[in-house]
Amino acid sequence: MTSTPATGFVSLIRPRSERTLDMSIRLTEEQQSRVNAIVTHLQNADHKCYSDQDVELGYPPPKVSLRSIWHWADAKEITTPFVATDQRTRPILVYFPDYISPQAVSRSASGVNELLEKVPLHVPPSDPRHSTVGILPKLQSFHPKRVGTLHCACWLETGHHGSGPAVSRQVCSGSRAHNATTRFVQSAGMAKDELSLLYAASHRSSWSRCVENFTLLRDFVPGARVLDSCPLDPWASFALISNLPSVRHVDQRDARTALSALYSFGSFGTMHLHFPSLKIKLRMREGTAVLFNSFFLPHETSMYDPEASRYAVDFFNHEEVLRWVDRKAIEPYVRE
Ligand SMILES: [Fe+2]
Repeated sequence: MTSTPATGFVSLIRPRSERTLDMSIRLTEEQQSRVNAIVTHLQNADHKCYSDQDVELGYPPPKVSLRSIWHWADAKEITTPFVATDQRTRPILVYFPDYISPQAVSRSASGVNELLEKVPLHVPPSDPRHSTVGILPKLQSFHPKRVGTLHCACWLETGHHGSGPAVSRQVCSGSRAHNATTRFVQSAGMAKDELSLLYAASHRSSWSRCVENFTLLRDFVPGARVLDSCPLDPWASFALISNLPSVRHVDQRDARTALSALYSFGSFGTMHLHFPSLKIKLRMREGTAVLFNSFFLPHETSMYDPEASRYAVDFFNHEEVLRWVDRKAIEPYVRE
């Protein structure tokens, strides 16, 4: 903050609107024309308004759909661009197959190969999102050293909330790991840049808020800069998911009203990302991009051929980090 702190409640509103305006004019002409082209594509995509879905009414997330009897095989298969909105017509899911450019996919694949030569993945046997009970040995036999997750995240560590956000341990568990993970972060930057423009085209105000928030986070927590890999970066954290199926879940710490992003690469066979509360399953293949509210929408992957080698990179923000930055940003304006 370089402006003189003001006092009084009205001043709490002004800084956000000014910063949001700044974000909207930071798109270059080329970026804006790319956003316009994506908007045209999305306007021609299938749209469905889910009148029973509202991200605010949906807090806490709809637990009932976690227990739903809906099975992924019963859901409608989606294979072409698709936009789902809540009852207020705000996007809650954007699906765009073949969206990520071959060059960005190639960089990501090279980045994964380099990373996995140097850094072991975390295998989460008890993670409610990635149950590997019973199938882990088989997966590991097909993909030696390539089964697990890697989190490159800026979040509030359990038991240390008072210390503010910090970069996750997997990024800084030694110089070798730090070097390898930060190189991987950069290898995913091109795809992240493309996803950022898809987010801008899909939900401009939500995208602006996230870009603004991460810009401020990098000032407040300089260590978070190692996670910055594209000029207009809306997501402070990401996870690599390598050859792991996921079971039905919501990501309870993710942003409540913003969108997370996911893209996939590798070999897939027939594989779907299923959203039971929307009764749809998205066909996933190399280069597929998905934006969705990962806090609100339960999701899971279908079972898949263990011989297929597949990777997904998931970009997200934690709600508590967004709120921490919001509080920090207005500190100079709050009357003592
Ligand atoms: Fe998830």
